[in-house]
Amino acid sequence: MLFKKKQDTSIDMSNLPRHIGIIMDGNGRWAKKRGLPRSMGHKAGAEALKKIVTEANKMGIEYITVYAFSTENWKRPKEEVDYLMNLLMDYLINAEKTLAGENVRIRAIGSRKELSEEMCRQIEKTENLTKDRDGIVMNIALNYGGREELVHSARRLCRMVKNGELNPDDITDSDIEDGLYTVNQPDVDLLIRTSGEQRLSNFMLWQVSYAEMVFVKKAWPDFKPRDLCECIRIFQGRGRRFGAI
Ligand code: IPE
Ligand code: IPE
Ligand code: MG
Repeated sequence: MLFKKKQDTSIDMSNLPRHIGIIMDGNGRWAKKRGLPRSMGHKAGAEALKKIVTEANKMGIEYITVYAFSTENWKRPKEEVDYLMNLLMDYLINAEKTLAGENVRIRAIGSRKELSEEMCRQIEKTENLTKDRDGIVMNIALNYGGREELVHSARRLCRMVKNGELNPDDITDSDIEDGLYTVNQPDVDLLIRTSGEQRLSNFMLWQVSYAEMVFVKKAWPDFKPRDLCECIRIFQGRGRRFGAI
């Protein structure tokens, strides 16, 4: 007799994080451990990502932001940067198709200035093709830096002040938020970083103010849907107070 795959009953579906942020770290070390070039770690990491987004969407998570390339990652050897850019390009092209049936809405967050024209065109194409889907919103943080994002927002406010549209004394949190790449999205509830490192590395500095952080020892390519479930379980065991008692 066949049994239906058992649902993970230990997750409280009424208390899911609305927005999950992931710092997908450890691709290089994963590859090194296996005697492979770092690029193979990135390739395996992209495969792991597809499965995690599918799982998060199935669970009913509303937003997922994944750190794919930071404003600091340009410091890496050109060969590695080129490989990562090509991989991201392929990911965007394939995501239109592979994540289509899953209703994933894809957006890229970060500065476009340093990206190639070809990449910018593909980002716009993928964003447009997926914009009317109503499943999970996937933000791919690409040439993203939390500080750059805040500078970007500050510039917008300065322009508004200069044009006489805004009084500096009236600036609020929400004015700053309106200039972030994640405008109109909720803050990050659960932040996951793989590979054992315990730092933000310039990821979503504003949006993680009250995020629950979960650091996982595994390298990103080894991170499986069941690990995501485990992180959510840990999140649900935390007492969030937001400054209250
Ligand atoms: C994360 O893995 C992917 C990116 C930063 C693009 P790393 O490439 O940082 O892997 P490690 O940290 O060197 O192992
Ligand atoms: C953060 O990882 C960036 C991404 C995962 C894309 P890094 O590997 O670049 O961070 P550091 O250098 O260890 O802080
Ligand atoms: Mg790293």
